Amino acid sequence: MKVKMMIASLTLLATSVSASPFEKPEDAIHYRQAAFSMIAANFGDMADMVKGRKDWNQEVFSKRAQYISTLALMPAEAFSVDGSDKGDTKAKPEIWTDWDGFTVKLNKFQTDLTQLAQVASQGDERATKKAFGVAAKNCKACHSDYKFR
Ligand code: HEC
Repeated sequence: MKVKMMIASLTLLATSVSASPFEKPEDAIHYRQAAFSMIAANFGDMADMVKGRKDWNQEVFSKRAQYISTLALMPAEAFSVDGSDKGDTKAKPEIWTDWDGFTVKLNKFQTDLTQLAQVASQGDERATKKAFGVAAKNCKACHSDYKFR
């Protein structure tokens, strides 16, 4: 019985180790920065539409909202990599000393983006702009506590 349990927990351990796609901490840093820069590129285009610097296009807006709602799921895994607090990163140490607080911000970000994608897909321009405003607050809210400028 005990042996079986040990084997089970070893298997679990092996799975969680090999489940990481990152060989080095730098890989994790690049990965999360890449995710954020893709989020920012899509978000910037959406902001241009909301602010009237570009013609409104519900279909394009909705597509971008879908993209970022998926992209926002990606950084968390890369922040959990040991050693990725050092090197070419703007991540503040508070991410790891206050992991719970950081996770709350990340989860809220994901929730608001999922909501935005859903509202945008329903086609109501006014409601979409309102949901965008809610989602947009997350960037600064997290950066001011957890990212160096
Ligand atoms: C939950 C926290 C959090 C939220 C929410 C968040 N960011 Fe970030 N962002 C970070 C952290 C931390 C970094 C630094 C990553 C690093 O350098 O390792 C970062 C980095 C970036 C970068 C730099 C990427 C690079 O190439 O180095 C951009 C651009 C960015 N974020 C844009 C945004 C935008 C736009 C939003 C909102 C739509 C947003 N972020 C929401 C935490 C967050």
